[in-house]
Amino acid sequence: MATYNIITYGCQMNEHDSENIAGMLEALGYIHEEDPWSADLVVMNTCSVRENADKRFFGVLGQFKKVKKSNPDFILCVCGCMPQQPRIVEEINKRFSWVDIVFGTQNIAKLPELLNLRQKTGKKQRAIVDNNPDITEDEMHPVRMHHHKALVNITFGCNNFCTYCIVPYTRGREKSRLLRDVVCEIEELASDGVREVMLLGQNVDSYKDALGNSFADLIKAVNGIEGIDRIRFMTSHPKDISDEMIECFKTCDKLCKNIHLPVQSGSDRVLKRMNRHYDRERYLSIVDKLRSVCPDITISTDIIVGFPGETEEDFEETLDIARRVRYDSAFTFIYSAREGTPAAKFEDKIDDETCHRRFDRLVELMDGISLEKNKEYKGKVMKVLVDGVSKTSDNTYSGRTDGFKLVNFTSDKTEDEIVGQMVKVEISETKTFSLEGIEVL
Ligand code: SAH
Ligand code: SF4
Ligand code: F3S
Repeated sequence: MATYNIITYGCQMNEHDSENIAGMLEALGYIHEEDPWSADLVVMNTCSVRENADKRFFGVLGQFKKVKKSNPDFILCVCGCMPQQPRIVEEINKRFSWVDIVFGTQNIAKLPELLNLRQKTGKKQRAIVDNNPDITEDEMHPVRMHHHKALVNITFGCNNFCTYCIVPYTRGREKSRLLRDVVCEIEELASDGVREVMLLGQNVDSYKDALGNSFADLIKAVNGIEGIDRIRFMTSHPKDISDEMIECFKTCDKLCKNIHLPVQSGSDRVLKRMNRHYDRERYLSIVDKLRSVCPDITISTDIIVGFPGETEEDFEETLDIARRVRYDSAFTFIYSAREGTPAAKFEDKIDDETCHRRFDRLVELMDGISLEKNKEYKGKVMKVLVDGVSKTSDNTYSGRTDGFKLVNFTSDKTEDEIVGQMVKVEISETKTFSLEGIEVL
């Protein structure tokens, strides 16, 4: 029996693509092997969003040379966002001759055919397409990472072309799945025992299907599916979020009171150069609206520091917006130039030292706010959907609240009894990135 392992980098889109790839491999008879270094087939599902992602990937790719040497039948596949860039495929062909198969983000379904060709002919296979109009989820049979929660694509690709971002080039133009196909998939998931769904799109707010259904229509439809307890989504774009969608936080009882709303910068000048199509005033008014519709909503964000031309004043505006919004959590990144994007050609780059200094200041501020916000939960009893055994200790479990707070807690129950269940946890300790507590009955 041949075995496989998938190494996944990047965002939830890649995670879900890996679930689909696992589904295809298992249909071909492959069995999952925990250790990539002893599997017969390895798929590296790559991310290209920042430069360190590139570096890590090439490092690991290099190490597979010795695996190939010791086992000539070993098959190495590379997919995901990196090979959507011709220069990367060239580099793989030139420097990493032990890569057997390369395919793109929009022709994942081709993998079985490529594998067959590779095995029949012994020849390397390369298959990358841009803007595949036939991209579909409907014939996929993913092997899901969890039984109780699932990732569900609602749109593919991105049309926004933020000037720093590689994603529109690696994922192609935006396409929305039909509302009824998404609902059908989630109904099936619910009948398989899934309780939480995460609706995925680079910009969920621009969802519009061929019949004119909006993202708000989709949320309302999913809210009506029996068996589903929680609905989440990723990622919202401030330029497209609608009042109707915001109202869903009040009208749809299953919609989790949590939103990831990337701000990227607090400076109007920088936002303009990033091509984000909103300003700080519009962003803050969205936050106000969200909080007036749903007072206990938790809000997280993404912020880039050191974008070309960012002055000390621009950076102060970012700190200021962070203080005003008081985010529950934030992902902060140092700007990384991506070849082929407009910002890579901007000449007013910020030096490394300034970037790191600003980054450290921002992280310190954000962490302080996260800790303060988390303190508000001390002593409260929260509903937690249990994901698994906590990383820190065996008799501790971890899960998420409705507001996406990570909770590590103790319980007398066994793993089989508790994972995938909704339990009540009394919060006894609060940290920057997590809450701690004990299950209460
Ligand atoms: N579609 C989502 C997320 C895309 S990538 C959105 O629009 O928000 C996730 C995050 O990575 C982005 O929000 C951004 O903050 C960061 N990012 C993207 N490109 C980057 C770059 N070139 N350098 C640094 N951070 C980047
Ligand atoms: Fe990238 Fe902007 Fe699209 Fe998000 S919305 S994926 S940041 S181009
Ligand atoms: Fe990375 Fe591609 Fe996602 S570049 S962040 S894996 S869309």
